Amino acid sequence: MAKRSLVVLITGCSSGFGLLTAARLAVAGHRVHATVRDCKKAEFLEAEVSRRGAIKNLRIHHLDVTDALLVKSVVTEVTAEEGVIDVLINNAGYGIGGFFEDLTDTEIRQQFDTNFFGVLNMTRAVLPVMRPRRSGRIINVSSVSAFSGSPTFSAYASSKWALEGFSECLYMELKPFNVDVVLVEPGSYRTKIFTDNARYAQTFNDAQSPYYETGQLIKKFVGQHVRASRRDPEDVAAYVQYLVETPRPRFRNIIGLQSKLRCWAVRHLPFEFYAWIVSKLLSPRKGPHA
Ligand SMILES: NC(=O)c1ccc[n+]([C@@H]2O[C@H](COP(=O)([O-])OP(=O)(O)OC[C@H]3O[C@@H](n4cnc5c(N)ncnc54)[C@H](OP(=O)(O)O)[C@@H]3O)[C@@H](O)[C@H]2O)c1
Repeated sequence: MAKRSLVVLITGCSSGFGLLTAARLAVAGHRVHATVRDCKKAEFLEAEVSRRGAIKNLRIHHLDVTDALLVKSVVTEVTAEEGVIDVLINNAGYGIGGFFEDLTDTEIRQQFDTNFFGVLNMTRAVLPVMRPRRSGRIINVSSVSAFSGSPTFSAYASSKWALEGFSECLYMELKPFNVDVVLVEPGSYRTKIFTDNARYAQTFNDAQSPYYETGQLIKKFVGQHVRASRRDPEDVAAYVQYLVETPRPRFRNIIGLQSKLRCWAVRHLPFEFYAWIVSKLLSPRKGPHA
């Protein structure tokens, strides 16, 4: 894909990576269709893009990725206005913390509804636009949790793990149609996913749970780790911009040295040893890697 003005549809732009990526892409001259689930939060995005002087390149749409009908109507709206969608960035997502026994089926299904089925809804809606043109790119925002588990992350990690399996198959299915599928796997960054948007199992704070004490410790350490992190979410946005613009993106993109080391460790060490390291990192003296 050459460096030209592209039509980009990106989900989950009220904060974090989505907001920053939408702003960067608008500044770079792309036609950005950014979606927000809560219209009241659109003002943060508008303010940031205005501050960067690129508001003319931004359109905002109301969209919850779990609502397949709404997804379809937004894609129809964008296509009617632009004629094409060059790039879809499936960014919307959240994480629910909790030990498996503390999580209800509903909580786990809701996690999958957004992080996994939300991506399927978006993909199903844009493919009839991209495939006949034999041109397009789908960038799925995954996570290091998609290839390395840790306690209290079972719902989140498995939703992203599913996303990776889906993306691998989709990559091969769409290659003949010249539609790229790309994965981005960031480590932990200070975004609202760990604060305002953080969710926990309903019984996470129930002192009767056999997991209560460990859960509280992990929650505290994750908080400390994220607060102490110097990693800038803008780096992820910059990388996603690169993936939008580069002619031949790699399929799997792990962002940051720490995340690459984690990937190496989980792939090369015996799993039992890797799990032992994770349990040590989560011990009271040290902060974990989310
Ligand atoms: N930050 C990290 O450390 C990290 C690491 C690895 C991967 N990620 C992934 O990066 C992506 C962006 O997260 P972030 O860190 O930027 O967190 P964030 O600041 O919490 O942003 C998440 C965005 O997703 C939106 N969203 C959530 N559920 C949605 C739904 N059902 N429909 C539409 N939008 C929805 C949120 O909207 P509302 O404001 O309405 O809730 C928000 O705009 C997620 O997929 C996350 O899993 C983050």
